[in-house]
Amino acid sequence: MDTIDPVENRRLMLAGELYYAFAPDLSEDRLRCKRAITAYSAATTAGNVSRRRIVELLNDLLQDPTPLPPPAPAEREDSRLLVDYPHVDGPIKMDYGFNVKLGKGVYVNSNSTWIDTCTITIGARTLIGPNCSFYSGTHPTDPFLRNGVRGPELGKPIVVGEDCWFGGSCVVLPGVTIGRGVTIGAGSVVTKDVPDFVVVVGNPARIVKRLDVAEDLKTGQEGGQ
Ligand SMILES: CC(C)(COP(=O)(O)OP(=O)(O)OC[C@H]1O[C@@H](n2cnc3c(N)ncnc32)[C@H](O)[C@@H]1OP(=O)(O)O)[C@@H](O)C(=O)NCCC(=O)NCCS
Repeated sequence: MDTIDPVENRRLMLAGELYYAFAPDLSEDRLRCKRAITAYSAATTAGNVSRRRIVELLNDLLQDPTPLPPPAPAEREDSRLLVDYPHVDGPIKMDYGFNVKLGKGVYVNSNSTWIDTCTITIGARTLIGPNCSFYSGTHPTDPFLRNGVRGPELGKPIVVGEDCWFGGSCVVLPGVTIGRGVTIGAGSVVTKDVPDFVVVVGNPARIVKRLDVAEDLKTGQEGGQ
């Protein structure tokens, strides 16, 4: 594993091909993420940390370099200014952070798990219930190739559209794309792509309802990202 070319290994990881997660540089990235999660969790549970500081710590965790708007004079006003930045409750489990992309006004309840081998993109205004897991990483099913922590693994991106709602304890598997305005019932395991404006439930998640959404609603909504 020490002979792995780190640049090529990282390229394979993001390209969804077999790569080595326990290469030294990726292990170091996961440690960085752990430290950022510890700082973020401490700030969100303290109850006396400003919204601005919490957003800064979230951006540090997700390695998002976009600068925040200049602060408003009063703290209350400043919180309102930042209301559309994502709201993420702890505790969180995330491998890298830099592969998680959260849209405007996303809300994530407690105990979320993000295996962000490849990118996990969540559309604006999506609400995520407690104990939800997004697994963009997977392992070979051949146990000899899998070979524990010494073997290679791979991933595929997850994309979730705008205006979705996940009930509690949902799981989304690698490579899944969920459309816009989808409701995912509590306890669902989403194994395949889901079209726009439907309700899915169960394991594996199946469509139980199609929403009759007016054309003007389908074309866009204020504040999208
Ligand atoms: C999916 C949900 C939103 C209901 O949506 P709905 O469109 O009103 O669906 P219905 O209640 O009409 O149910 C449709 C069918 O799916 C089933 N169903 C509903 N939710 C289900 C779930 N989570 N898992 C499995 N089946 C479910 C119903 O039993 C019903 O089956 P039937 O047709 O055989 O009777 C709701 O059941 C749910 O899971 N809510 C999540 C609540 C939650 O997690 N809250 C905390 C986080 S915010």
